[in-house]
Amino acid sequence: MIIIIPKQSSTSPPKNNFHQSAIISPSKSILNIGKGDLRKIWKSKQRNLKMDKLKVLNLYAGIGGNRKLWTDVDVTAVEMNPEIAAIYSDLYPQDKMIIGDAHAYLLEHFKDFDFIWASPPCPTHSRFNNLNQKNIKYPDMALYQEIIVLQHFFEGKYCIENVITYYDPLIKPFESNSHYFWANFKFRQFPNEKRGIRRQEHDFRYNRVGIDLSKYNLEIRFEKQIINNCVEPEIALHILNCPRGVMEAENINQPQLF
Ligand SMILES: C[S@@+](CC[C@H](N)C(=O)[O-])C[C@H]1O[C@@H](n2cnc3c(N)ncnc32)[C@H](O)[C@@H]1O
Repeated sequence: MIIIIPKQSSTSPPKNNFHQSAIISPSKSILNIGKGDLRKIWKSKQRNLKMDKLKVLNLYAGIGGNRKLWTDVDVTAVEMNPEIAAIYSDLYPQDKMIIGDAHAYLLEHFKDFDFIWASPPCPTHSRFNNLNQKNIKYPDMALYQEIIVLQHFFEGKYCIENVITYYDPLIKPFESNSHYFWANFKFRQFPNEKRGIRRQEHDFRYNRVGIDLSKYNLEIRFEKQIINNCVEPEIALHILNCPRGVMEAENINQPQLF
């Protein structure tokens, strides 16, 4: 006789059903459960799994260019700049916003999520910011610290995004759409785009990002900066959807048997 039971740790309550595989387990106590009951339990287990939203951690959230087209997700965002965080929260009121240090938050909480996106600051890595040899800064190693920790200890799917670096990257990235990405799954390679002269660049980015900031009356420089920081929503949607299919298939359709 078999029954489907949720997998639960004996020491801590489950945080999220998404990671809980349905288990078919022999048990003496359910010897008299018939096939009909079993089907009902299985169906309700599948329903529960389907209702749970993917738990996403969105680090260095900015105004959420990458977040814009994600649907059916339970997002925790971390952003250090309160003004930027306030705009993000206005655009995505359903997300939990943490104003604080994303680097520290990641280390403490990465195990609580199914999918992690991180866009650590790029100035110390970018080709543009490092043309000037008068003001040399160390590249910020937080980028590589995060990649290494996620590569080795995170059981979900992750994508870390940054610019194309002025030096040979220390860990091999995937280049797409004028970004470097470090991820533990495959996705499409979007072409790098020539965006024309700098004045056109802003209009190009504005159109691609499609977030209207006019109601916030921001200083034009600040507005340009936060739009330029955005990952194009279509690309981030594609990236989230790639592992999402695999995770949902694993969690819903392929219960472990033993
Ligand atoms: C490249 S932008 C993120 C863009 C975002 N992914 C998007 O698509 O809109 C990086 C953001 O990280 C924020 N930031 C920088 N250092 C941070 C830190 N230690 N913790 C949290 N946020 C930080 C900056 O204020 C900035 O908004």
